[in-house]
Amino acid sequence: MDLSAFPYLQGNYAPVEAEYDHDETQLRVEGTIPKNLVGAYMRDGANTAYEPNHYVYPLDGDGMVHAVYFRDGKVQYKNRWVETSHLKTEREWGKTIYGSVGKLLEVPQEVIDAGGEPSPVRNTANTNVIYHGEKLFAMWEGGFPHLLNNDLSTVGLYDYDGALKPGDALTAHPKVCPDTGDLITCTQRWDSPNYWVQVIDKNGKHKQTIPVEFERKGIIHDLQITENYVIIFYAPAWHSLERAMKGEDPFMWEPDRGTKIIAIPRDGSGKNVVYETDAFFSWHFCNGFEQGGKIIIDYIWINSIPFTQAQGTGVEKQPRRMYRMTLDKATKQVTNEQFSDVFCEFSRVDERLMGKDYRYGFAASSNHDWDDAHGYNCTGRYDFVTGETKLWDYGPEANAGEPVYVPNPDSDKEEDGWVMCFVFNPDEGAFLSILNAGTFDQAAKVFIPTRVPNGFHANWMQNLTLS
Ligand SMILES: [Fe+2]
Repeated sequence: MDLSAFPYLQGNYAPVEAEYDHDETQLRVEGTIPKNLVGAYMRDGANTAYEPNHYVYPLDGDGMVHAVYFRDGKVQYKNRWVETSHLKTEREWGKTIYGSVGKLLEVPQEVIDAGGEPSPVRNTANTNVIYHGEKLFAMWEGGFPHLLNNDLSTVGLYDYDGALKPGDALTAHPKVCPDTGDLITCTQRWDSPNYWVQVIDKNGKHKQTIPVEFERKGIIHDLQITENYVIIFYAPAWHSLERAMKGEDPFMWEPDRGTKIIAIPRDGSGKNVVYETDAFFSWHFCNGFEQGGKIIIDYIWINSIPFTQAQGTGVEKQPRRMYRMTLDKATKQVTNEQFSDVFCEFSRVDERLMGKDYRYGFAASSNHDWDDAHGYNCTGRYDFVTGETKLWDYGPEANAGEPVYVPNPDSDKEEDGWVMCFVFNPDEGAFLSILNAGTFDQAAKVFIPTRVPNGFHANWMQNLTLS
């Protein structure tokens, strides 16, 4: 596979070419693995199986999940591709067939006639992996999720017992309400500008739809919950399927329109509140909560749309920072302040405090300029009580992924949990980093003898085991 034409398939962005199973004897551990952890750390990401025709980071590439399973202080590792219909079709033909979300290709008639996947839009299944209602899903934001078995083998597309209709695109960024266990998620459609909040109960049954109308389909990646609202950012960022099919740049950024913040009542009353402010883009929320007459939103601010059809423009590397936004419900005033001057992305919290006042945010962070690359060599802890940003530095060439807060099952304190992420350091190889959340130092490293490429979102799957 010649990947030299693709800047975001170099170094540790390059895919691995095989699936592995490493038992505890093959995983060297430095430090001590917490003995009371039962479950798995899993991370999804792009791992293109064939040399692509075109590649937009961070949207394209076949999904692959990497997992480290924990039980009795012991660990096991697996990685598996998500067996999508697009990947299966390409395997049957032994080559790339489909284009990219930035440059769609017509599917050859002979492929369709032979029973291959007819949709030109690849279900990448590469964005997130979640465990809810005792079901494991690999997700992207352009279609249905894939149901996986605990061992990462793929069951297939999942429609929540028919709640998802053909053409519905389920977000890869749902939030779980810590009070009810509900999954607060949303659907969008390629053929409609509208947006639908969807609520799935703790057992995985669909229970509510809240429609939201828009005049134009925006690129809305994440959502945040507070006690009473679902919050979304409606930035002036657009994608056109027609332009993508013609080979033209399908991504548009129109900053004069500003960014709208939409507060959607979770009770389904339909009385949405719209706040307006200067244009910015954001991939990810950190957390949000209500306090008196205000809504506080912590998120990663980006100046403009951080991707484009053209390769190697550097647009992905524009500054991104932790921001705290305050929405005044009475005056509709928006206050938007930079919290830290550290370059960061992939923000997470102790999810027991999702939608509630909290102390610590965690994010993949950087303490140096990456020049032509794009990376995060630290895990950052953002203390919203003291205002302090603390970095755990893995070394200048290391690349650290999304830090997931793993609660200590024997404590409800944020300080008593752990923060886990995959790290690749050229000097050390790949490892799962386990930091103590409170002292913010290394508890353990689990070395993976095969490479773990840079990827996207991860989660801790409490009580998920292989047997
Ligand atoms: Fe994301």
